[in-house]
Amino acid sequence: MAIKIAVLTGGGDCPGLNGAIKWVTKTALDPLLVRDRSVKFEVLGIMEGWKGLVEVDPDDPKSCAEHLCPLDEEKVRTWDRYGGTNLGTSRTNPFNPKNDRSDKLMENIKKLGIDVVVAIGGEDTLGVAYKLYKRGVKTVGIPKTIDGDLVGTEYSLGFDSAVNIIMEEIDRLRTTAGSHNRVFVVETMGRHAGWLALEGGECSGAYIIVIPEYPFDIDRICELLMERKGREIQYSIVVVSEGAKLGGKKEFYKDEKVDDFGHRSLGGIASFISDKIQEKTGFESRYVVLSHLQRGGSPSARDRLMARWFGIAAVDMILNDDYGRMVSYSHGEITSVPLKEVVNNLRLVEIDKYYDTTRYNGKRSIL
Ligand code: F6P
Repeated sequence: MAIKIAVLTGGGDCPGLNGAIKWVTKTALDPLLVRDRSVKFEVLGIMEGWKGLVEVDPDDPKSCAEHLCPLDEEKVRTWDRYGGTNLGTSRTNPFNPKNDRSDKLMENIKKLGIDVVVAIGGEDTLGVAYKLYKRGVKTVGIPKTIDGDLVGTEYSLGFDSAVNIIMEEIDRLRTTAGSHNRVFVVETMGRHAGWLALEGGECSGAYIIVIPEYPFDIDRICELLMERKGREIQYSIVVVSEGAKLGGKKEFYKDEKVDDFGHRSLGGIASFISDKIQEKTGFESRYVVLSHLQRGGSPSARDRLMARWFGIAAVDMILNDDYGRMVSYSHGEITSVPLKEVVNNLRLVEIDKYYDTTRYNGKRSIL
């Protein structure tokens, strides 16, 4: 009997997800490996993350066709070139205390004959995988988050593509910012962690970078900009994470709505900073919210490679009966960590190590 692997993607989409699905499938079904191994696999894609697995009615063929997607090598052959997720995604939380559907989830896993669940996602998605594992389901996690805030791994899918997009967009902004002699405030994603703003800002040479880990002072931003007045420099780029906060204040939220995991949508910080700069310095200022552009398009070389390595490692873990763990990249190697260490935790920018609190930018010395 074949071991049935269910694979799903949860949370925000990003480039690299399709590659991970492809490599889980290809590795599990590889004819040469099948010949050498004593086990056989079957791979079942689940549509829209946990939502698909909760909502599917295993007794109804129509429902199965809607929520399930049997995968084979032919089907996933070209997937690694494309962004997004061909399996779809959702922010469904089956363990939401206000609408607990975990029993249904357990029942469906059993009815569908699923032996292992490979969950590709961030802290929320992997948190569900961990809860399932505690209830006896064999689970393996693959790290994905453009925010880069997952602990237990030095790389999560989507991050590199997003940093490249930030860099390209800032390169583009420079010509218009320079022509008009303007300050441009660029808002990146990054709810709790400032990795995207920091690394995106650093590789594009931003003058100021504002991150959630270090609450900012608007007067200091203006002071830094004023230092440029009268100099040859005609414009400035300020990069800010969506989750950055004014000293003593909370994040800027779009509205009151909360998702299934209790998160509210962030937004508004770039326009706030831009207005204040114009008001306090007299520099003409504009802002750009990069928003979901950072999750769009095709995966970078690094995301394609990491997706491949992560997908292969996930199947190796299944062969080793290594469950309740997440594939991880650490010190240049692919390894794994217990999901228990990944959930309810965040990998944040270490201010002392990486951030210059005087210049509001990346550090220029590691001493
Ligand atoms: O996946 C995390 C993230 O990229 C956050 O940085 C951002 O706040 C959130 O997704 C926005 O996601 P959406 O609008 O797609 O729900």
